[in-house]
Amino acid sequence: MRNLDQYNITQAVLARMAQTPDARLKQVMTSLVQHLHAFAREVKLTEAEWMQGIEFLTATGHKCDGQRQEFILLSDTLGLSMLTVALNNDKPAGCTESTVFGPFHVEGAPHYEHGDDVANGAPGVPCVVRGSVRGLGGEAIADAEIDVWQADADGNYDVQREGLEHAQARGVLRSGADGRFHFRSVVAESYPIPDDGPVGDMLKATGRHPWRPAHLHFMIKAPGYQTLVTHVFRNGDRYLDSDAVFGVRQSLVADWLEQPDGSFTLDFDFVLNPVQKTTA
Ligand code: BEZ
Ligand code: FE
Repeated sequence: MRNLDQYNITQAVLARMAQTPDARLKQVMTSLVQHLHAFAREVKLTEAEWMQGIEFLTATGHKCDGQRQEFILLSDTLGLSMLTVALNNDKPAGCTESTVFGPFHVEGAPHYEHGDDVANGAPGVPCVVRGSVRGLGGEAIADAEIDVWQADADGNYDVQREGLEHAQARGVLRSGADGRFHFRSVVAESYPIPDDGPVGDMLKATGRHPWRPAHLHFMIKAPGYQTLVTHVFRNGDRYLDSDAVFGVRQSLVADWLEQPDGSFTLDFDFVLNPVQKTTA
């Protein structure tokens, strides 16, 4: 194939991939090339813009290390992460909705008993979180693993605090025989996603702010049920309708109730989706 032009180059690339042995890879690559070429044609991409795009992606890669995943941040801020969550978590009504995982989960967080303070010294207004883990029929799910993590009063996760040697405002609990759990922590506050890299530059250039509404992250695992990755958002937060990563679902918004002593309580019940049984 020679003398390819703007009219036939797309077909030439697709033909070159026609022998891809893996059918799914072939489908994904074919669609990717078609959409990428259509995009370049639609905006009539200039050579300078193409180079700017290459430099942006290069800088995005350079910003990544063991702690920082700038490509996921890019996916989050372009709505691709939440789209992928939505495409893959179409659950029956009544199940707790899923949302983005985010970059601040840590494997191996400390284990806590009911009533313990997972804040572990993190600054913030004290808060008691109570809830239950149930199935669609209301059945209690005992011994579910409840992994929780959150930002503190300054809008920081522990992993963002330089020199902090121990986990704060994160931990793992297990639901009781009645499916219930409770722990102490601090009230979560809204915070800006990391915006000191190329993704932050993109947000600025497109007139966007980097803020996420206050939330608690949960990942809940129980045998026989799909793992739930979600947040509980704080009602009244000013960023609920402009979350930088498009993660807010109305069903996940809850009231943190102020108590006479100035502390807060949050009650939230989670409903897990059973794993579909496959017939042999
Ligand atoms: C988070 O909620 O922790 C988060 C999600 C996406 C990007 C940055 C932070
Ligand atoms: Fe978060």
